[in-house]
Amino acid sequence: MSVILKHLVSSISTAKNLSKKKNSISFIKIFNIRFFYAFIFIRNFFKKESVKQNNIKTNNLFKPSSWDSFSIVNDLNEKGYNDKIKLNDIFLSQIKQEISMKNSTIAFKGEKKVEDYVYSLEKNDQLNELLKKSIKFNLSHVSLDVNIKKTNYIKNLATSDFLLDVAKNYLGKNKISISGLCYISNPANITENEKKDNAQYFHYDNDFKKFFKVFIYLSDVDINSGPHAFVQFSHNKRLFKHLLSTRLDDKEIIDNYGRENIKTFSNTKGSLIFEDTFGLHKGNLPKKNSRIVLILIYGQSEGIGIYKNSLMV
Ligand SMILES: [Fe+2]
Repeated sequence: MSVILKHLVSSISTAKNLSKKKNSISFIKIFNIRFFYAFIFIRNFFKKESVKQNNIKTNNLFKPSSWDSFSIVNDLNEKGYNDKIKLNDIFLSQIKQEISMKNSTIAFKGEKKVEDYVYSLEKNDQLNELLKKSIKFNLSHVSLDVNIKKTNYIKNLATSDFLLDVAKNYLGKNKISISGLCYISNPANITENEKKDNAQYFHYDNDFKKFFKVFIYLSDVDINSGPHAFVQFSHNKRLFKHLLSTRLDDKEIIDNYGRENIKTFSNTKGSLIFEDTFGLHKGNLPKKNSRIVLILIYGQSEGIGIYKNSLMV
């Protein structure tokens, strides 16, 4: 089957499945994004709204304080990522302590191991408890939907003048949605299919007409703890055969884009990675240590509607 035909079939099936869910976006809107907006030239064709140009400097939540929003937007446009900013230590621990079952829900259910884990959780459990129990139940990956509206520090970060200025200028929209996720990834012996489900193979996201994510490492991430990886420039240029949103292995990426273009982020806790995940990316499988990452998703309007409790600003 040709690439276009396979892409058409997979877009129809995604739109069909997602539009069946409660309070979902319409089939047509989902199909439009999944099919047409997978083409880079279509994504780049539509003009941006005129957005107020502020060029905000990082404030005392971040270090260093010399970065400005335009530099981040330039890096996102050119390379697809920026990983030069960190949160200050006090703010980082406030954010870590804030994530709990009071403001978050487990995203994936239905599997026996996950059900036992969910059943073991108590309503006041914080991130440390969630991590400990995920190891106890031998889970390779836990995904939490974080309801930003129920948070204080995370909301302050997500709606800080600095991040909002990056978002509005990169997305070219004055009205945007912000959603929160938290991933706990543990070392485990898992099947290749489970790795694919855990986004541990290269792939691209296509959840909005335009979007980017901010990954915030809540634990130190080195080569043994499953660092996030991104193929630089691939948000703007990739092979036609990679139009299909399938999972791609390392060899396929190295052969086609070059090892030197794979950026692997082994960074300390508190590090931020701004990334247009329309480009090819993955989280590596942790070898020895667990990895915890908070993800803020900034998108044009509600996109295909897969993120819960989004904040519209
Ligand atoms: Fe992804």
